[in-house]
Amino acid sequence: MAEKLLEIRKLTTGFVTEKGLVKATDQISIAVDKGQTLCLVGESGSGKSVTSLAIMRLIDYAGGMILEGNIDFHGQDLAAKKQEEMREIRGNRIAMIFQDPMSSLNPVFTVGDQIAESLQLHQNKPAKEAAQMAIDLLRLVGIPAPEIRAKQYPHELSGGMCQRIVIAIALACNPELLIADEPTTALDVTVQAQILDLLRKLQAELGMSILLITHDMGVAAEIADRIAVMYAGAIVEEGTVEEIFEHPSHPYTIGLLQSIPGFEGGRGGELYTIKGTIPPIGQLPSGCRFHPRCPHAMQICREREPQDFLLSEDHRAACWLFGDKPAQADDREEVNHA
Ligand SMILES: Nc1ncnc2c1ncn2[C@@H]1O[C@H](COP(=O)(O)OP(=O)(O)OP(=O)(O)O)[C@@H](O)[C@H]1O
Ligand SMILES: [Mg+2]
Repeated sequence: MAEKLLEIRKLTTGFVTEKGLVKATDQISIAVDKGQTLCLVGESGSGKSVTSLAIMRLIDYAGGMILEGNIDFHGQDLAAKKQEEMREIRGNRIAMIFQDPMSSLNPVFTVGDQIAESLQLHQNKPAKEAAQMAIDLLRLVGIPAPEIRAKQYPHELSGGMCQRIVIAIALACNPELLIADEPTTALDVTVQAQILDLLRKLQAELGMSILLITHDMGVAAEIADRIAVMYAGAIVEEGTVEEIFEHPSHPYTIGLLQSIPGFEGGRGGELYTIKGTIPPIGQLPSGCRFHPRCPHAMQICREREPQDFLLSEDHRAACWLFGDKPAQADDREEVNHA
């Protein structure tokens, strides 16, 4: 069994809104193994970023809170940490990269200085050594002519290069866990593939764990060891990348996969869309949160929330289709091609 670096158990988070306290994530449980990549996948508004903010405890500054659950990192519960303790962990042992690279970079400092600053801050490196290490990091993230690039400002670099710089800043503290929230969404497809390659290469070289957030199943297929599918604040399916792609089981996961152009389960060239929209937080339907959009919804789905059902040792789904008996391979086939 792989060793777990991060284990989130029954994490419930919420925000105080005009309608009172509303839950943004509801009892979610996921784990990231050492040296592995977990992709958290789901439509916009499903609670992916809120989950990452909770791990970093930045949710406290976004007007939200952790209501219940644990975030075990090396056996320490981050959910119970004081902010001054979290400051030691953030940027040192856990680093985060955000969706829009340009907004993470400071336009008035050279990129070399920005990486060096991170090294000085997190690793107490003297200025001269930090400047040299910044150039080495630029080389590590695949920036050509790093000595020249180090002296340039963010606006002089392309979007893909800026994302490489953001990754270099995150790596400056040698993190055990890298959280990447939609790291390639703002980039065109070719550059996206290069950044995913880079993350894979860095992971192999540095042995870090990655929690990658994406709405794109195609991205998850490229990089994930495991995939957790999130819908309206809950994990509806979780498993190894092979299990999720070969035996997708939750109707939501199947819908996401059928929405990928060219996916074999898709409908003859026509792009599939999951009907309806994700409910806003605080307005969940009764029973299964996906039932109003589900092509297989049954009476029980309207009435009772499904629990997690184990489909194999490496695969679980929260769906009543598997509810009255342990799931068999035949069940999967039926759902898959329904
Ligand atoms: N500060 C906040 N106050 C109130 N509600 C919030 C706040 N931040 C997020 N939410 C709500 O929590 C839910 C989950 O948001 P989150 O940003 O995690 O979604 P996401 O899965 O990251 O979506 P996207 O793919 O668009 O980034 C959404 O309904 C959102 O409106
Ligand atoms: Mg988000």
